[in-house]
Amino acid sequence: MKILLLGKNGQVGWELQRSLAALGELTALDRQTVDGLCGDLSDLDALRATIRRVKPDVIVNAAAYTAVDKAESETELADRVNAQASQVLAEEAASLGAWLIHYSTDYVFSGQGSVPWQETDGVAPVNHYGASKLAGEQAIIASGCKHLIFRTSWVYAARGNNFAKTMLRLAKDRETLSVIADQIGAPTGADLIADVTALAIQQVMQRPELAGLYHLAAGGEVSWHGYASHVIEFAQANGESLAVKSISPIETTAYPTPARRPLNSRLNTQKLRDNFSLHLPDWQSGVTRMLREVLNK
Ligand SMILES: NC(=O)c1ccc[n+]([C@@H]2O[C@H](COP(=O)([O-])OP(=O)(O)OC[C@H]3O[C@@H](n4cnc5c(N)ncnc54)[C@H](OP(=O)(O)O)[C@@H]3O)[C@@H](O)[C@H]2O)c1
Repeated sequence: MKILLLGKNGQVGWELQRSLAALGELTALDRQTVDGLCGDLSDLDALRATIRRVKPDVIVNAAAYTAVDKAESETELADRVNAQASQVLAEEAASLGAWLIHYSTDYVFSGQGSVPWQETDGVAPVNHYGASKLAGEQAIIASGCKHLIFRTSWVYAARGNNFAKTMLRLAKDRETLSVIADQIGAPTGADLIADVTALAIQQVMQRPELAGLYHLAAGGEVSWHGYASHVIEFAQANGESLAVKSISPIETTAYPTPARRPLNSRLNTQKLRDNFSLHLPDWQSGVTRMLREVLNK
């Protein structure tokens, strides 16, 4: 099986390089052109030519315009990368008879209420990033290509920057941290997303009727404030010397950003768990593992 991975150096892409390696012959690209293969999703013609040359059986697209606040002003680039490139991938997958595996976000929803979103719930993106990701989903579905779309949320990885590392850095110097307490979701490891992706690809090869849109997130729920408290308590319990004495809960309205953020990022993952017979561990187990790696404990 030939697999083309796009966005190989992002949080999810990096973990996919590991989890997809055992499934087949993997060509992994970032936005650079290597050996005439271009993985830049803003260059639609070169992207199309690359797929025609590689002729993959599976395209896994982990690349995306993910700068949520900047997407409010760079709307054209966000649309090209998140929507138009998805359409190109979908058209090429359809003509090759290949699978397209793609990722989307809970930001396609309004962010209202407290009930975990289901795949069948109505969409109403909270910001331009969410709208561009929704347009990408819709283009893939409309193309008729064989696809899996995983909507996820609050993604972290041990590699690169993440919320937990930022909290630990701030907690070294500051006695008080203020963290948003009215946005609720489930921190979801890029490693979990990559592992589920590989398992799902194996299963859809045998059972193509499982194609479709799925919500994928770790189990449980927490606010950013609860997440920060978990991180700090873990670090202190493991001997880290931190200056922080209190973590104050604040409301989203106290921390204005160019792009609106959803209050309710809960995702109902029942469909994924049932269709693929998967267990999704609680968010704490992945976060604890990431913290052990980051803190070397
Ligand atoms: N992060 C989250 O909390 C979150 C939540 C929900 C859904 N998602 C979705 O999950 C997927 C994976 O996200 P992630 O967290 O792994 O994001 P990430 O770490 O920001 O990685 C995105 C990757 O896309 C690449 N990229 C950006 N513009 C590109 C372009 N024009 N051509 C080629 N590559 C380009 C980036 O490369 P550079 O580093 O060179 O810019 C980066 O490697 C995305 O579809 C995202 O929308 C993420």
